Amino acid sequence: MPSKSIVIASDHAGYELKETLKQELSEMGFEVLDLGTDSQESVDYPDFGHAAAEAIVSGRAERGVIVCGTGIGISIAANRHPGVRAALCHDAELAKLSREHNDANLLALGGRTTEVDVARACLKSFLETPYEGGRHDRRIAKLA
Ligand code: RB5
Repeated sequence: MPSKSIVIASDHAGYELKETLKQELSEMGFEVLDLGTDSQESVDYPDFGHAAAEAIVSGRAERGVIVCGTGIGISIAANRHPGVRAALCHDAELAKLSREHNDANLLALGGRTTEVDVARACLKSFLETPYEGGRHDRRIAKLA
């Protein structure tokens, strides 16, 4: 598991799931860097995807979770930042593979498309699974 802070951010459509997962992370003992949003009032998902990505790039957080309605828009925004590998996951197996093969540093989830228990399972898998390295290093280098 990462030793540094976990960044978490969402738009309004991901707010409820963000709050649930934030609580979960705190209970697991992580220091949580919550970059908003702070309510269900409508906001723009790129603002929160960029903010979470900047926290990863600057080293303020080692990994993080981003949530919008589908997880699509916020992951597109985050992935525009070199060094960020945001993986949109719909089950724990994808979250595991995103760590093993892609060394994903942001888990993207859909607040309107993913059940809470599935999101919890994705989070657990994302945090517990180490990067495999080896042949994947070369492929990840080609993303940069
Ligand atoms: C907001 O209505 C919605 O478009 C947004 O949360 C996200 O799903 C975009 O990809």
